[in-house]
Amino acid sequence: MKEQLAAIAEKIKGLGPVEGLRYFAEAYPSQVVFSTSFGWEDQAITHMIFSNNLPIEVFTLETGRLFPETYYVWNRTLDVYQKPIKAYFPQAEAVQQMVSSKGPSSFYDSVENRKECCYIRKIEPLKRALSGHKIWITGIRSEQSVNRHDMSNLEWDEGNQMIKFHPIFFWSLDEVKAYIKEYNIVYNPLHDKGFPSIGCAPCTRAVREGEDFRAGRWWWEDQSKKECGLHAAS
Ligand code: ADX
Ligand code: SF4
Repeated sequence: MKEQLAAIAEKIKGLGPVEGLRYFAEAYPSQVVFSTSFGWEDQAITHMIFSNNLPIEVFTLETGRLFPETYYVWNRTLDVYQKPIKAYFPQAEAVQQMVSSKGPSSFYDSVENRKECCYIRKIEPLKRALSGHKIWITGIRSEQSVNRHDMSNLEWDEGNQMIKFHPIFFWSLDEVKAYIKEYNIVYNPLHDKGFPSIGCAPCTRAVREGEDFRAGRWWWEDQSKKECGLHAAS
């Protein structure tokens, strides 16, 4: 797969997001998955997949610590499209052990504890979600963080041994908003309250005018340590 990356990049060059998604769905039947966190980038892609009946499995990592608003978007999305969204939960034993020994908010105490929580609630379930698939679709955009500027819309994920495709990688936030508006797509009300990037509730806050997109994620940590590991290989 890794060797084929350049050839695939050539094939999808110049294709719009929907055509790119269609290319993968047709070239890799039953092997394409899309991860949604129900943020507006992801809602735009969910709309592309569901309204075009693309055979791509949509899943979410249900960490157990999501915002009520996120569950609202999840429910509304099921209502609107009548298509399945698969939920991956953390292993109950692992969560029980962590919370019993360290309490429910251990992530504020150290970077190690925060990474442990992200591993249990996101990374391990992600591995299960990706297993058996070859293509992982995400809603990452280039302008979301400094780290992401250097990425490309097509990448080899060494850790997961699969190809990642980010169909709206080059879109600006305004383009995302315009798309959401044009197709009347349900989106998280927190986006209108200063939350450009939404993760788990205890680890996400609103950002102030002029602050970075991701300033509200794990805001108590150093900038350099602020990726949760989902996209570590990127
Ligand atoms: S994170 O690494 O900081 O948590 P971010 O919130 O920027 O990621 O989202 C980037 C992409 O990661 C999303 O477009 C989505 O594909 C995936 N993602 C993030 N959180 C989840 C989640 N809880 N469930 C499924 N996919 C997720
Ligand atoms: Fe745990 Fe926070 Fe990571 Fe969610 S974002 S898995 S609550 S540390």
